[in-house]
Amino acid sequence: MVTIDRQRLHELMEQERQAFRERHSHSGQLADDARANLLYGVPMNWMTRWPGDFPVFVERADGARFRDVDGNEFVDFCLGDTGGMAGHSPKVAVDAVAEQAARGITLMLPTGDAQWVGAEMTRRFGLPYWSFTLTATDANRFVIRWARQLTGRPRIVVHNWCYHGSVDETFATLDDAGRTVARPGNVGMPVPPEQTTKVVEINDLESLERSLATGDVAACLFEPALTNIGIVLPDPGYHDAVRELCTRHGTLLVIDETHTISAGPGGCTAAWGLRPDAVTIGKTLGAGIPSAAYGVTAEVAERVYAATDYELMDVGGIGGTLAGNALSMAAMRATLGAVLTDESFGRMIQLGERFEAGVQSVIDFRALPFHVTRLGCRVEYLFRPDRARNGSEAAAAQDGELDAFIHLYLLNRGILMTPFHNMALMSPATTSEDVDRHTEVFAEACESIPFTRAGRETRA
Ligand SMILES: Cc1ncc(COP(=O)(O)O)c(C=O)c1O
Repeated sequence: MVTIDRQRLHELMEQERQAFRERHSHSGQLADDARANLLYGVPMNWMTRWPGDFPVFVERADGARFRDVDGNEFVDFCLGDTGGMAGHSPKVAVDAVAEQAARGITLMLPTGDAQWVGAEMTRRFGLPYWSFTLTATDANRFVIRWARQLTGRPRIVVHNWCYHGSVDETFATLDDAGRTVARPGNVGMPVPPEQTTKVVEINDLESLERSLATGDVAACLFEPALTNIGIVLPDPGYHDAVRELCTRHGTLLVIDETHTISAGPGGCTAAWGLRPDAVTIGKTLGAGIPSAAYGVTAEVAERVYAATDYELMDVGGIGGTLAGNALSMAAMRATLGAVLTDESFGRMIQLGERFEAGVQSVIDFRALPFHVTRLGCRVEYLFRPDRARNGSEAAAAQDGELDAFIHLYLLNRGILMTPFHNMALMSPATTSEDVDRHTEVFAEACESIPFTRAGRETRA
């Protein structure tokens, strides 16, 4: 039985905190100043959740690296939690954006780039018709609305411990008795989520079948693999069965590829041969310039056209003045055309494999009760010996203290991981040296964790 001496871990965390404050005095000063005018002292509330007493303020980012205002250099595996997966400020995207910005940013009229991007999305994901938004949240919100409109049904089904952006219907979870309830922390919910949503565990086909059989479900909104509570992969055959159940019960199948595009240029949809009615995606499409999209099959498009009131289209709840603007279209064209190419994905996935192998070697060498999971160029370690099979198992394995300790230990040595759960992404600019540096520092972090085996302290 392996446990961790929590008191000692707490002391080690304090040392890391102290080191963080010493290395980041200028960031600390900027954070103090920001508290005067920014709610919570940050531009967006979740930036308070970085381990350390305040977030690191960035001076400059380039490719897979950035420098903070104190002059510290970092290898960035967080990459804006996928927003920067194309690498920071890739030249070709920066040039295209600068050129477009000088020729008009937002016009309420199309530019020629939109058709190119639509055709490229079709090539990648197989769905013939696309529409654009600024965020993946909006893409999901709009597809849910369409699904309700087309089916005349009120509810959606989501996976337990999913995250699809700030979409009201998705802030639901299962309680201990298996009932759908509001997710902890659900701020100002418009209606109790059980009125709009049914939650099922990923890989639980029986519950899914029961949820769909009542005939009131407009859409299943699923990530192909969970990515926001650790990576939870689907069982073999799961997606075929989901497709079959959705078809049988007249429910639209919506696949959210915002994070799972890590599996390849067409996400899991292409890599695993999925057959969704709609795909949603955002974050990385425009190298971080706000850009997102949803695509639908020809059959769904026909139903959309038939259900559209053209006179009232602008006030129908699907819109956004800045959506589809010229700047994001130019950013997407450059990013998809020249940065996140099929060839780049090949290299990024190889680096993902190297990252996974490095972490696995540390786990094996020290016989740590951890495991590592990979989805293409996205890799994550979770603090349980074997893979979680569903969201509940993954949620139960979260170890906030250990997560924060490893995160801050790495950060203090120039490696940035995604916060909340330690996840790494490879970009086209990431190198094998970057990956090996992570392995080295991760090994040191693991060496310092105060494990206790069968009653005696050991360094694992
Ligand atoms: C799978 C998934 N879908 C959608 C979103 C929402 O993206 P955004 O916050 O850019 O709207 C997220 C955000 O993390 C996500 O993980």
